[in-house]
Amino acid sequence: MEKRPGPEPCRPQDLGLFEVVSRDGAARIGKFHTGHGILTTPMLLPVVNPNLRTIEPREMWDRYGVDALITNSYVIWKHEKLRVPALSNGIHELLDFPGIVVTDSGTFQSYVYGDVEVGIEEIVSFQREIGVDIGTMLDVFGRPDMSREELEDAVSETASRALPSLSEAGEKLLLNGPIQGGLHHDLRSESGELMGSLEGDSRGFAIHPIGGIVPLMEQQRYRELFGIILASRSTIPRNRPIHMFGCGHPLLFPLSIALGVDIFDSAAYALFARDDRLLTPDGTVRLEGLKEWPISSSALFGKSPEEVRGMEKDDRAAILAHHNLEITQSELARCREAVRNGKIWELAEKRSHSSSRLREAFLWVIEELEQLEESEVGNSLLDIMASTNPVRGGGEPISDDIDSRPHVLHIMALLSLRWRIPGSWWDGSVGPPERVVVLEGTSPPWRSTCLHTVIEALLENPKSVVVISTPLGVIPFSFEDVSPFCHIDGPEAIWLEPTDNEQLVEDLETLGLNDIPHVTIYPGEAPENLPAEYPEIRSWIDRCSIVDKLSVLCAMKPGLLCGMTNEMSSRKSKTDRMVNVSVDGEHVFSPRLKDGGISLALGGARLLHSFNHAPPARFGSETETEEEDHPGIPRVLLSDDAIPFVGQGRNVMHGYIDGADPHVTPGQPCIVVSSSGDLVAHGVAQSTSMEMACFKKGIAVKVRDGALREK
Ligand code: GUN
Repeated sequence: MEKRPGPEPCRPQDLGLFEVVSRDGAARIGKFHTGHGILTTPMLLPVVNPNLRTIEPREMWDRYGVDALITNSYVIWKHEKLRVPALSNGIHELLDFPGIVVTDSGTFQSYVYGDVEVGIEEIVSFQREIGVDIGTMLDVFGRPDMSREELEDAVSETASRALPSLSEAGEKLLLNGPIQGGLHHDLRSESGELMGSLEGDSRGFAIHPIGGIVPLMEQQRYRELFGIILASRSTIPRNRPIHMFGCGHPLLFPLSIALGVDIFDSAAYALFARDDRLLTPDGTVRLEGLKEWPISSSALFGKSPEEVRGMEKDDRAAILAHHNLEITQSELARCREAVRNGKIWELAEKRSHSSSRLREAFLWVIEELEQLEESEVGNSLLDIMASTNPVRGGGEPISDDIDSRPHVLHIMALLSLRWRIPGSWWDGSVGPPERVVVLEGTSPPWRSTCLHTVIEALLENPKSVVVISTPLGVIPFSFEDVSPFCHIDGPEAIWLEPTDNEQLVEDLETLGLNDIPHVTIYPGEAPENLPAEYPEIRSWIDRCSIVDKLSVLCAMKPGLLCGMTNEMSSRKSKTDRMVNVSVDGEHVFSPRLKDGGISLALGGARLLHSFNHAPPARFGSETETEEEDHPGIPRVLLSDDAIPFVGQGRNVMHGYIDGADPHVTPGQPCIVVSSSGDLVAHGVAQSTSMEMACFKKGIAVKVRDGALREK
């Protein structure tokens, strides 16, 4: 086997920091910095039993690219034959593993066997002395069947042990701060708050595992499990990875990751192997009775199930453990790639069909996502939806659950909140609309299939609001080129089915159009000749699309924008779409051809900034900001020392941000301002304001242009 080089330690100042390099809503591709390398998340820590190594840690490193594993410090502490070499040579040498070593503390043993005899500080100092990278304090395991009082005690006792543990860990040992609270969402959220806010002399907890969930996974109580993840996540600081203690079944990875889990750990690969079971991404398969492999792996390649069944028990367990680890790793790679491509929710949705228990849990999550109640779960899901880029390129596969995907719910919520009826009409008239024209039975690209119908409708009655019926609901015609609406992958029939009347009334109500009479039109063939009014009507439609996109996606007040667009001109692409929009000859906006969103040019950032000069409130200040539907282009308040760099066009890095508007949205435009409110740069937000308040590493805003660039 080829040797893989050893890890590079992180820079000393980065020890224990977590940065996000790519995201899809709450799902994130992260980098966690340690003395034995930088861990890419989401990832799984394979559990290594120091007394029984089914797969050698060195092989995990060399062959499977495992960057970090987890073992039990209590087991090592308890057995002299392990404790003595660990203390003299260190844990890395004991395990023969060059990467990151994470250890647990004995809490799980106390859950399985009753009390453990090690002290709270003693187990942390032992982990420090044997050179562990990420240790775990001795928390109190809160079983789901415990009484509320017992669980309250588990939460408070765990929290009371936190500071002594952090202080014992010292500078180099990073610590896990487990979240307990059983099935009680309020206790989980309280535990997250307590454990997340405690600071030791060197730092707070580096990672927060969610504890006490193994019994739920064993009993496949997935709905309760995801409720716990959401409730715990509502208060865990965003800049710390979340670890699901004891979860390692690939089936659970996609939805857990979509809800914000970064780290998994499990002995499942070895335990299932010893029980003659194979892991697959959609369930577990028994070796018994198999004629052919239902899934391939390099471990099984060239051997038949019959041959494997004929092996000695230990050899069979080893081969199946290799297969299981390989499948686990490849499912995590698939999940990471899905996060990078904005498809993690789709993968979770797909996997939910693999098990009825998981499907039940998934349906519960989407129901909660649609309702967004005032609760720990509701708040967490609101945050997930708000941190999901509402506009995205690429196809949107049709499914029964399509309209519950977080980015679809997000764009629909924004349309409902911020879209407004035009203030004036193409013929210069003003006043309320006289009718709503619903375009039915027509497929995208709508500017080719029904622009002529829109023009005819507006010619017939200029005071017409034109909307299109789509499988995701009714949208204003100005959003005709916005993904996901115009990129739904499905059979032609999805565009032909008319919206039933009840749904139509509901959709029109969401846009505030329910009190206006509506007519439904099925667009026909385009006429040979364009009407004389075409240029005028077309230019009004183009202006509406800019105003609508800036108000829905950038929170600009439509009334303020209307005046501006009177002076607007645009260059068109070969496919007759606006590319560069200028006002008074200056390039201000670029409609994004790939997803129908909008990009600012520096002139546009200046223009939008001119409507709101005040800097946003600083993080932690108590100022009550009035909630408005259109609070203006989201602003990020930059620290003074970063102004010279960002003003020249460098990205805004976490750690240099003093405040941000709450409606900053990942993937959408924002402006960067100084403490006096002056424009420093503009770009695309990568984080929410809550994240900007706590992350210390990574890019917060990808800057498109600095406003202080020397010409
Ligand atoms: N392993 C599985 N569950 C737990 C837990 O709740 N706490 C700790 N420390 N380890 C675990």
